[in-house]
Amino acid sequence: MENLLNNPMQALPRLGEKAPEFNSLTTHGMIKLEDYKGSWLILFSHPADFTPVCTTEFVAFAEIFDELKKRNVELLGLSIDSVFSHIAWVRNIEEKLNVKIPFPIIADLNKEVATAYGMLMPGESNTETSRCVFVIDPEGIVRAMIYYPMSTGRNMSELLRLIDSLQTVDTYKIATPANWQIGDEVIVPPPKTQELAEERLKQGYNCIDWYLCKKKI
Ligand code: BEZ
Repeated sequence: MENLLNNPMQALPRLGEKAPEFNSLTTHGMIKLEDYKGSWLILFSHPADFTPVCTTEFVAFAEIFDELKKRNVELLGLSIDSVFSHIAWVRNIEEKLNVKIPFPIIADLNKEVATAYGMLMPGESNTETSRCVFVIDPEGIVRAMIYYPMSTGRNMSELLRLIDSLQTVDTYKIATPANWQIGDEVIVPPPKTQELAEERLKQGYNCIDWYLCKKKI
């Protein structure tokens, strides 16, 4: 891990590959990636404690906490701030905004996790993490990554939609179209042979053409 910190050619997480391990100090004590085995995990970074956009995001993450729990998803925050700063900030959010922050936050002062996950964007900052989201599945595989600039707070509805899509894809072996929501038709994966293409048109799917078929689940 130490070598990564000075290596600009660091290997970054990639979709479909194992998420980088960590064992980190958080506001809920030491936490390692392995602790989330069997659950989905949203690991997200924010630039800094006591900043306005981040504060609105933390309130928004707390608001979807129960919806995430229903989906077997845990939340884990991260910034390059001390655990004391994190504690003071979450206490301040509770006092001023009446919102309890129920999830842990990594105090990544040595930038180990930020570096391993590529959360530092030198074009934005070398000392503050950008707004990154990693969705890690119950087997520890990176299933989605989202990177937002410091200026733009994230959209919680999209995170829930993304989780719903990933879990539906896993259950039904399908894909989901643009703007898909639970209850909408899903995409039947494209056929790999001419024979399968012809067959699919007879299967009662809602087909625009052989390569674009939807079905209800
Ligand atoms: C914010 O959370 O308000 C913020 C943090 C870093 C840069 C810009 C905005």
